[in-house]
Amino acid sequence: MSDFPTIPLQQYHEYPLEEMRRRLKDFYDDLNRRRTVREFSDRPVPRDLIETALQAANTAPSGANLQPWHFAVVSGPQTKQKIRAAAEDEEREFYAHRASDEWLEALAPLGTDEHKPFLETAPYLIAVFLKKFGELEDGRKVKHYYPAESTGLATGMLITALHHAGLATLTHTPSPMKFLNEILGRPKSERPFLLLVVGYPAEDARVPDIARKPLEEYTSFIED
Ligand SMILES: Cc1cc2nc3c(=O)[nH]c(=O)nc-3n(C[C@H](O)[C@H](O)[C@H](O)COP(=O)(O)O)c2cc1C
Repeated sequence: MSDFPTIPLQQYHEYPLEEMRRRLKDFYDDLNRRRTVREFSDRPVPRDLIETALQAANTAPSGANLQPWHFAVVSGPQTKQKIRAAAEDEEREFYAHRASDEWLEALAPLGTDEHKPFLETAPYLIAVFLKKFGELEDGRKVKHYYPAESTGLATGMLITALHHAGLATLTHTPSPMKFLNEILGRPKSERPFLLLVVGYPAEDARVPDIARKPLEEYTSFIED
């Protein structure tokens, strides 16, 4: 047995089978209503909602419990304007030169282009950073294990929590995203992971008419 302290698993909760089915179905139905929104309202969102959603994200499992993520929450118009200008510069290059024809073809149904007005309209931008390694106060480095997997899980939980609260998100990945370190004053040990746009959808928001694959296309059950 390890010498490290343990506590009883007090918070685990088992439900009767029928209740499990209902809870899961309700949860799935709710998640299935989530869509990536690209037209946002400028209606304000109270900061406590964002803080609770971030706490939900921070419950994600992480390699060796090192929680290798940082969330830079932007609501100020000047910083949003800087981010929009830098993102549109990168995206202009991306759509005109950097993206392969194959990539542009895959993006076509989404109707995206280099214009990113939502980066100023939406009340919150959450820049998610992956911490490649930790740094102790004396400057020594702490190795992180599976930082990409961990940060991906935390981000998924953040998107889920915000959706659960009735907010819309856009997972945005201007390519490349290095400018976020500079604008947001984040150290080189952090890699920009993605930029989450958060708010209420615009009243007349529309979304691409695309579908999700059926279960049997993305799942295999091995039962022997
Ligand atoms: C890692 C990742 C990067 C994405 N980058 C962008 C992006 O830069 N711009 C954008 O408009 N949508 C982006 N999306 C959103 C996807 O296009 C969207 O999730 C997908 O089309 C499915 O639509 P849905 O989220 O409404 O189900 C990204 C999604 C993921 C997971």
